[in-house]
Amino acid sequence: MVFLNQVIIGDSLQVLKTIPDSSVDMCFADPPFNLDKKYVSYKDSLELDDYLAWCEQWLIELVRITKPTGSILVHNIPRWLTYYSTILNKHAHFRHWIAWNAMSTPLGKTLLPAHYGILFYSKEAKGTKFYEIRAPHEKCRECDAFLRDYGGKTDQRHPFGYLVSDVWNDIHRIRHNKRRDPHPCQLPIPLLERLILMTTDKDDIVLDPFLGTGTTAIAAKQLQRQYIGIELSPLYAGVAEQKLADVKKPSEYQGFSVSLYLDKIRSIRDCDTKHLFPQQLTTQAKRQKKQPSVPTPQLPLLLPESAAD
Ligand SMILES: C[S@@+](CC[C@H](N)C(=O)[O-])C[C@H]1O[C@@H](n2cnc3c(N)ncnc32)[C@H](O)[C@@H]1O
Repeated sequence: MVFLNQVIIGDSLQVLKTIPDSSVDMCFADPPFNLDKKYVSYKDSLELDDYLAWCEQWLIELVRITKPTGSILVHNIPRWLTYYSTILNKHAHFRHWIAWNAMSTPLGKTLLPAHYGILFYSKEAKGTKFYEIRAPHEKCRECDAFLRDYGGKTDQRHPFGYLVSDVWNDIHRIRHNKRRDPHPCQLPIPLLERLILMTTDKDDIVLDPFLGTGTTAIAAKQLQRQYIGIELSPLYAGVAEQKLADVKKPSEYQGFSVSLYLDKIRSIRDCDTKHLFPQQLTTQAKRQKKQPSVPTPQLPLLLPESAAD
């Protein structure tokens, strides 16, 4: 494909129209939220109807370009995701609403918005690529004890970590300024790495129509996927390209693609853990191992009658 492994500076709707049907494995979109954020090339305060009409156009394009085995993931505040769902329900298949627990700003007399949503749709009802993900068991920072006891069945605790659900508490927003680009809403790379590990294989194509400073493309490159990024602002696109050039080695553990943060595995596919972490023995299996093996009784040597003669 012409745009493979490139950051394209342009209007996503126009660029998407040039991408062939059913050609991308996974689309991830993190559009402007229409909350008057200060982007350099885009005015983030459209009339409600204009914003929703625009969203409908690119959502339909994303479904069109996704392969039959592929997925469409969209990140936004719950308010807009309710509209997105009514659109996507007509063109694709609902899989999950992932609640990413990432505290945002108090808005006044409302419940404190503590999560963003990630809508997960598949292009087709069946045959979608999907891999379960494990994250490390949560431990007490002070004493290193496991925080969950799995109903007392500690011997059944997975040797690496738990299967992630549709509520993600373990991936944090970028807090430190030294990790931030000059962009008002940059997502953390581990968030995209988890989504990419969950829905794609090596060399698959991941597309982001609102690339910002490159989070999705960097996550894809680190996991050895191919990427297509579209961004209106040449400034943000330039930052993304620079960061992509700095990705020198894949994010791997013993040859398996994983999401690493501060040198620790944060997300790994369940199917890969089987090769890397030996299954913990259950209490029963341990007991069986401890029991001394019963000696085989010495049977009298019975010879055929003819031989005994
Ligand atoms: C919420 S931000 C995405 C941030 C990105 N996920 C990251 O982690 O850096 C939305 C981005 O969409 C870009 N944008 C707005 N309108 C666009 C359009 N029509 N085509 C392409 N990009 C656009 C903005 O410049 C902004 O960088």
